[in-house]
Amino acid sequence: MKKAISRIVVPVLALSALSVSIAYAQQGPRPENLVKWRQSAYQVVAWNSARIKASVTGSYDKAEVAQAASTLAAVANSGLPKLFAAGTEKTRGWHETSAKAEVFSESKRFSELDADFAKAANELAKLAQAGDEAGVKTQYVALNKTCKACHDSYKASE
Ligand code: HEC
Repeated sequence: MKKAISRIVVPVLALSALSVSIAYAQQGPRPENLVKWRQSAYQVVAWNSARIKASVTGSYDKAEVAQAASTLAAVANSGLPKLFAAGTEKTRGWHETSAKAEVFSESKRFSELDADFAKAANELAKLAQAGDEAGVKTQYVALNKTCKACHDSYKASE
C-alpha cells in the first residue's frame, strides 16, 4: 500500500516541481526590476564612494573607509552587466534609464569597463583594510577614472 502511494505521489510531486521551475524560468525578473536594481546598485556605489571621499579630503577614518570600500567592492563584483539584459534598453526603473543604447550594442566593451571598475574597487578595498591611507588616496583617484571611463561612453547625463 505504502509503495503504491509513493508510486503515484512521487511522480506527481516531481511534475509539480518541474512545472514550478518552468513557470519561474519563463517569468524571469521583470524588466523594470532589472532597471531599478541597476540604478539602486549604482546609488549604493555612489554612497560608499562619497564616504571614502569624505575621508580622503577631510580627516581620515580607517574603519569608515574599510567599511565603505568593502561594500563598494562587493557591488562592483556582483556582475552588474547582467542587469543590462536585452529588453531593458528603454525601460523605466526608479526613473527613465540613463543607459545609452551602446551599452546593449557594445556589451563586450561595457563588460570590460565593468571589470576594470571591479579590479580598481578590489584594490581599494585591500588598501583600505590595511589602513594604507596614502595608498587609498591614490587608488581612489584610479577608481574614479573607471567610473568616468564608463559614463563617458555609456551613461546619458540627466
Ligand atoms: C561599466 C560602466 C559603469 C561603471 C564602471 C560605473 N557606472 Fe555608474 N552607471 C552606469 C550606467 C550605464 C548607468 C545608468 C543606469 C540606468 O539608469 O539604467 C549608471 C548610473 C549611475 C548613477 C545613477 C543611478 C540612478 O539613480 O539612476 C550613479 C550615481 C553612478 N552611476 C555612479 C557611479 C560611480 C560613483 C561609479 C564608480 C565608483 C560608477 N557609477 C561606475 C555605468 C557605469
